Amino acid sequence: MHDIASVFAAEFGREPRVFSAPGRVNWIGEHTDYNDGFVLPFAMDRRTRVAAAPREDGRLRVFSHDLGERAAAALDGPLDHRLPHWMEYVLGVARVLAARGHPVCGADLAVRTDVPIGAGLGSSAALEVAVGYALLALAGTSAPRLDLALAAQAAEHEYAGTRCGIMDPYVAALGREGHALLIDCRSLEATAAPAELGGATLVVCNSWVKHDLAASIYNDRRAECERGVTLLARGDERVRALRDVSPAELEARRGELPEVTYRRCRHVVHENARTLAVAAALRVGDVAEVGRHLLASHASLRDDYEVSAPELDLLVEAAMAVPGVHGARLIGRGLGGCTIALVDRAAVPGLTGALAAAFRGRFGRSPEIIETRAAGGVRED
Ligand code: GLA
Repeated sequence: MHDIASVFAAEFGREPRVFSAPGRVNWIGEHTDYNDGFVLPFAMDRRTRVAAAPREDGRLRVFSHDLGERAAAALDGPLDHRLPHWMEYVLGVARVLAARGHPVCGADLAVRTDVPIGAGLGSSAALEVAVGYALLALAGTSAPRLDLALAAQAAEHEYAGTRCGIMDPYVAALGREGHALLIDCRSLEATAAPAELGGATLVVCNSWVKHDLAASIYNDRRAECERGVTLLARGDERVRALRDVSPAELEARRGELPEVTYRRCRHVVHENARTLAVAAALRVGDVAEVGRHLLASHASLRDDYEVSAPELDLLVEAAMAVPGVHGARLIGRGLGGCTIALVDRAAVPGLTGALAAAFRGRFGRSPEIIETRAAGGVRED
């Protein structure tokens, strides 16, 4: 374990300030955020740490300890397209903040994370939010946390090329220790919800699968939802997003949509309803009800939204065979990455063993099992 401040000192020969932002876990509400819908995430207790000190020359010099890579770029001027992909997040958030009127100065940065990278746990948002917060602090200023989250989202759209929703940066910026957040992605308001359920907890299972086309498939799904909205808005001007369509209304108008568009929309409108139902069930501690909705979410992501993978389906099936597991599903954008399982604390060792055995039996390697606890959002450490 290298402490990121010592890594920074060894790399840049001076003392940094250290900032960090968390990855995220999501109870439920997948592919609903960019449809103006509801999500129910919490900040996980794994963080991306950024050690930082200002520079006078308007440049960012960055050392990624995890990847052993270095990159440097000017805050303004033409973009160098040979920069490593991760630098798009760093430079993107800096440039968006500057374009939005925040004074951002150049900096030396060293980055280290224990959020699994590219595993559907919000690693890119954690990086953007931590870097954005650090750069503002170095410039002797700050921004409202929601503005920071919106700048991180814009960096994904404008620099990284993913038209992602607000969920991940929101929770990286505004996560609350010990709580999940029910976020209304239209109003951008959130209410606190429990992150744990009596004796049961959420366990994350990392399949390690990465799908090369995940970003473009994500953008395609978003475009399909927009197509559905265009068709459903004809004759009903109330419809601005899939948020405005109930499951019953969608059924009544099924014939107006191509089959695939209909199924994408069906996932979203039911997922919104499930998310509200889970928030209510969490508040009254109804474990069985929460578990049922998690499973229904997985089936819908697999069959209607088509963003599962054999590894994720196996992790869900194998979890459900373990006594003490109430529900399981894939999380994040899907196609690879992680699943979660809602499990009685006492059953966690049994679940861990069963998942490792089933996964190794079929795929010849072990998944990573991560126990979670709801942490706070971005901060100076
Ligand atoms: C990714 C995106 C989020 C959200 C999820 C799916 O994590 O960054 O905005 O759309 O996928 O729910």
